[in-house]
Amino acid sequence: MEISMKPLFSDIGLYLKSFQLFLERSTEHQCIKRFIGENLPDVVTSIGKKGASCLNVLGVGSGSGQVDFEMLGKIQSQHPGLYIHNEVVELNPQQISKYKELVKEKGQGLNISFAWNQMSLEEYVKQNKERKESKKFDFIHMIEVLYFVESIHDTIKYFHSLLETNGKLLIIHTADDSGFHSLWEKVISRLPNNHLFSEIYKTLEEMRMKYQIYKLSSDMDITECFIERNENGERLLDFLTQIVHFSKTAPADLKDEVLHYLRQLQCSREENGKIIFNNNLHAVIVEC
Ligand SMILES: C[S@@+](CC[C@H](N)C(=O)[O-])C[C@H]1O[C@@H](n2cnc3c(N)ncnc32)[C@H](O)[C@@H]1O
Repeated sequence: MEISMKPLFSDIGLYLKSFQLFLERSTEHQCIKRFIGENLPDVVTSIGKKGASCLNVLGVGSGSGQVDFEMLGKIQSQHPGLYIHNEVVELNPQQISKYKELVKEKGQGLNISFAWNQMSLEEYVKQNKERKESKKFDFIHMIEVLYFVESIHDTIKYFHSLLETNGKLLIIHTADDSGFHSLWEKVISRLPNNHLFSEIYKTLEEMRMKYQIYKLSSDMDITECFIERNENGERLLDFLTQIVHFSKTAPADLKDEVLHYLRQLQCSREENGKIIFNNNLHAVIVEC
């Protein structure tokens, strides 16, 4: 990566603003919620040890909890009467505060307890290893978080080892036919490594894990990226490239290359005068 460019995640305030705008301009959460409504019920019916009175759930990189909350509701409806203990590992304190607000607002009367770990997943792993005891979980999810980890292989291996009998691990990540995948592959040597989906499959195959893939279609309106000095467009470009102030810090040739490539069929299509980026995702359910 060129020295002048900084990874977006190094500026958490900017990262969260870009992520929020990405959610507003994309069908990201809608398509994940559709997966939760249509596919998750079947996936979670078999979790839980025989005769257990409680299900243990772990969310890794939960953000502000909107997706997690939806999943907890589905798990509960598949296991009526069972108590759920939900642990959260989330690096960012602002996100944890938002999640707690959501629980206060919508969690009344639910048979769910929450434990908050405001730390990186790497720190969580380290603390578990130091204590020489690791709690087991019936359902663990890592949604759109593997981009930020030091090692995809070690992260999947460790969290998979925390699965209880009948437990399942859910990973949601950008798909290999998405515009993100094409863009990052095309300019990968000049952008930070964003951990392409293939690395996840490589790990699952190497470890001979049993898994099932669900393909989720999602779009993102990136029309504003092509309007000169448009603030939202610049913020979306930061998110697409995962670079702080990409428009201002990238060398002119790289900016031109990215803007040109974003309009190509590998990334987008034109619809009613808008440029619609392919934000397809894969949801992977890994068995214990
Ligand atoms: C793209 S957001 C996804 C949030 C949520 N899962 C969703 O889909 O809406 C990634 C989240 O992972 C958190 N995160 C990033 N790196 C992390 C790490 N090493 N350990 C724990 N959380 C991390 C970020 O703070 C952020 O809230």
